[in-house]
Amino acid sequence: MKVAVDPNTSLVYPRNVDPETVKDKNNFRNYTSGPLLDRVFATYKLMHTHQTVDFVRGKHAQFGDFSYKKMTVLEVVDMLDQLVDESDPDVDFPNSFHAYQTAEGIRRAHPDKDWFHLVGLLHDLGKVLALAGEPQWAVVGDTFPVGCRPQGSVVFRDSTFQDNPDLQDPRYSTELGMYQPHCGLGNVLMSWGHDEYMYQVMKFNKFSLPPEAFYIIRFHSFYPWHTGGDYRQLCSEQDLVMLPWVQEFNKFDLYTKCPELPDVDKLRPYYQGLIDKYCPGVLSW
Ligand SMILES: [Fe+2]
Repeated sequence: MKVAVDPNTSLVYPRNVDPETVKDKNNFRNYTSGPLLDRVFATYKLMHTHQTVDFVRGKHAQFGDFSYKKMTVLEVVDMLDQLVDESDPDVDFPNSFHAYQTAEGIRRAHPDKDWFHLVGLLHDLGKVLALAGEPQWAVVGDTFPVGCRPQGSVVFRDSTFQDNPDLQDPRYSTELGMYQPHCGLGNVLMSWGHDEYMYQVMKFNKFSLPPEAFYIIRFHSFYPWHTGGDYRQLCSEQDLVMLPWVQEFNKFDLYTKCPELPDVDKLRPYYQGLIDKYCPGVLSW
């Protein structure tokens, strides 16, 4: 990947694209080999050690008053130029490009659903938490429910949870843990990260997007559920109705990742129009 990182600023500069680096579908989300594997494993090891019921409740309290900053959507998109996601085995370029790549992929496939295009642009904006000083293991990566035993399809399931205190706690270490069967994912305490935070930002600022948009953003990183097929015992009927939306979104979140970076200046006016329609002005983060 021809991307240079300036260690002094953490800024990343895209250079020429090498077509050899464009991947085919089977090469995404490889957690057993690849040049970024050590960094990815280290992020998940920390996440799976420290994401506990108490930790997540604390983060909800800490960020629940949206007093971090006042910013527009595009200001946050631009801020993500400073972020490289250390949990992602597939990309080593700034997250803002991923936002536009995802949005444009959805726009090509679903030209009539402008709200869905905007979901592509918005879905990772919660990663601004990393720029607010939060460690990456509490921001990025796949999510999983805390308060019950991690299921088989969680990445690095067998090598990263041994130091998590919740797994020694009988309240939290059974298959259902602290939940009732089919309680609904909205009632489940997910590991804390950019999905839940952005969902809460959208609610707090009263985005006028459809419920599907809120749902997709809240659970787009819950791979053990939407792709792994686990955690069905926690799902309500409504979750199963929404699942195809999350899976449709995921195609674009994952397979539009390529080192050919979009011309952001050309795309901006279209997305500014969507922002003005659904989530205008200065927002509370
Ligand atoms: Fe994401």
